[in-house]
Amino acid sequence: MCGIVGAIANRDITPVLIDGLKRMEYRGYDSAGLAVLNSERQIARERSTGRVASLESLVKESNLSGNIGIAHTRWATHGKPSVDNAHPHISKGSVSVVHNGIIENHEELRRQQLAKGYKFTSETDSEVIVHQIEFHLKDSDNLCEAVQKTVAELEGAYALGVICRNNPNTLVVTRRGAPLVIGFGKDETFIASDMSALISVVREYCVLEEGDIATVRTGKTTIYNEHGTEVERERLTSSLSSDDAELGDYRYFMEKEIHEQTRSITETLEGRIGKDSILELAFGPEARPILNDTQEIKLVACGTSYHAACVARYWFEEFGFKTDVEVASEFRYRTPVVNPKTLFITISQSGETADTLAALQYAKKLGFAHSLCICNVPESSLVRQSDLAIMTHAGPEIGVASTKAFTTQLVALLMLAIALRSRRCAGDGCDQQQLDLVNELRTLPAKIDDALQNEALIEQVAKQFEDKNHALFLGRGAHYPIAMEGALKLKEISYIHAEAYAAGELKHGPLALVDENMPVVVVAPNDTLLEKLKSNIEEVRARGGRMIVFADPASGLKTDEDEGMTVINIAPVNSYIAPIIYTIPLQLLSFHVALIKGTDVDKPRNLAKSVTVE
Ligand code: F6R
Repeated sequence: MCGIVGAIANRDITPVLIDGLKRMEYRGYDSAGLAVLNSERQIARERSTGRVASLESLVKESNLSGNIGIAHTRWATHGKPSVDNAHPHISKGSVSVVHNGIIENHEELRRQQLAKGYKFTSETDSEVIVHQIEFHLKDSDNLCEAVQKTVAELEGAYALGVICRNNPNTLVVTRRGAPLVIGFGKDETFIASDMSALISVVREYCVLEEGDIATVRTGKTTIYNEHGTEVERERLTSSLSSDDAELGDYRYFMEKEIHEQTRSITETLEGRIGKDSILELAFGPEARPILNDTQEIKLVACGTSYHAACVARYWFEEFGFKTDVEVASEFRYRTPVVNPKTLFITISQSGETADTLAALQYAKKLGFAHSLCICNVPESSLVRQSDLAIMTHAGPEIGVASTKAFTTQLVALLMLAIALRSRRCAGDGCDQQQLDLVNELRTLPAKIDDALQNEALIEQVAKQFEDKNHALFLGRGAHYPIAMEGALKLKEISYIHAEAYAAGELKHGPLALVDENMPVVVVAPNDTLLEKLKSNIEEVRARGGRMIVFADPASGLKTDEDEGMTVINIAPVNSYIAPIIYTIPLQLLSFHVALIKGTDVDKPRNLAKSVTVE
């Protein structure tokens, strides 16, 4: 969603703030702003709509500089993208605030503040925060106390960075329901929504806990917990490298991240597969008792991560575990009947998705036995709140459309399914199928590499979408969710309306849409449903549909230009790992269609990388 960065140092901190905003632009990017205390001890601010680059030009033109400041990149929730709605907000020239989250009782606070004579300059829910702090500063000049009193009156989610004219040596930060880290340099301290914003300046950092508030100074940072008691938070060392957040030779992060999948999957597997089994201790010391105790599985996630859950259902069920899958935003408002021996699994790239976090909290109240998350960000809220976390090790994913996070989630889920399988199918020992599965996992990086070799062909095929506004994606079994993921990728980055169907459903309605203007993308691996899928392909062909089929060479499906059918062969793969491999051509297809359509591939309109509000 939005991204926050802040700094206090004995040097001009505006370049650090701009660099941090650029690195976090993936969180939101409709406007950006920056405020510093300048040498005259005034709050000086610049804001602009659009990308951080526009803000950077403004900051240069106005020679804005200061030793303490806050900055923000916004993804609009309350109030349209505009300069007035951009953060930081300022009250009476005295206090300035950046906010990530949503204040649910903002209307009530706004009414009270209007009655007290405060003037509003934006339509945002956030502006009430800065006026409330200004109001509480009337009692005393202590900024931390004023922020404490203010957050006690807020309902909703927030991560805040606050500076004040009368406290020129203190930056106050606090969080509840939105992430915030503090980075410790030598005589300089930084804050940010996530560590990737700070990698050019610090390695050492700590993660604030729910309700923490901190006074950040150059030499000393003091943290209080939600009860106001001074606490220490563990100092961590970031393993992010600045290369991870650089484009290198690629034009787009999405392109880079698609091509990184050979490496990222190697890292997901690393240290987790033994000679003939999954080394489940590598999931954590608590993994074994938790897995031993598991009778059923509940998977909950959003968006692409939900599609990973849908694929995993096929694996868990096949290995003997009753499995249920649901989107987090729906689960959190239902009253499901819970078998307490159910392992509650959340899947999330960011680990900060508000609906997924709320679903986990709800699951704990409902009495699920244990929680496990599959996540890409070790310091995220989801990891900290789950009993067990399996990190995907995909490295930072910057492109808004998820690619390497998805395939590494699938790999982590397949490893988990194999580990659980050994409890149902093979006792404690090892059987031939387990051996085969473990060996298949080992072949994954090479097979991903093979699948990437189809790029030139896919680039050609993408031209068929140049003048199209709609598309259908078909798959069966575990490849139905892969078709869903392919359709989501195409929608997100090329703005083509795309829908996925379980191919057997075609005849129950969607077939009416099929004509030469509706490209139909089919995922056709060599599995037990291939013959059924071929009948579905014939149904489309008979109605003059244009098809792009990703198929195993053994399928016998052939390109037939007269019939409008293009077949791209994917090297043969075992049916368990096929969903991971068949994802690659669909990612490449959406990427090349987006290039043809000329969209902003990494930052598609209206979307944000981490959806930290409901
Ligand atoms: C799509 C995409 C989103 C995310 C969703 C959940 O390409 O990236 O659909 O998958 O917002 O995000 P995480 O996985 O961070 O919980």
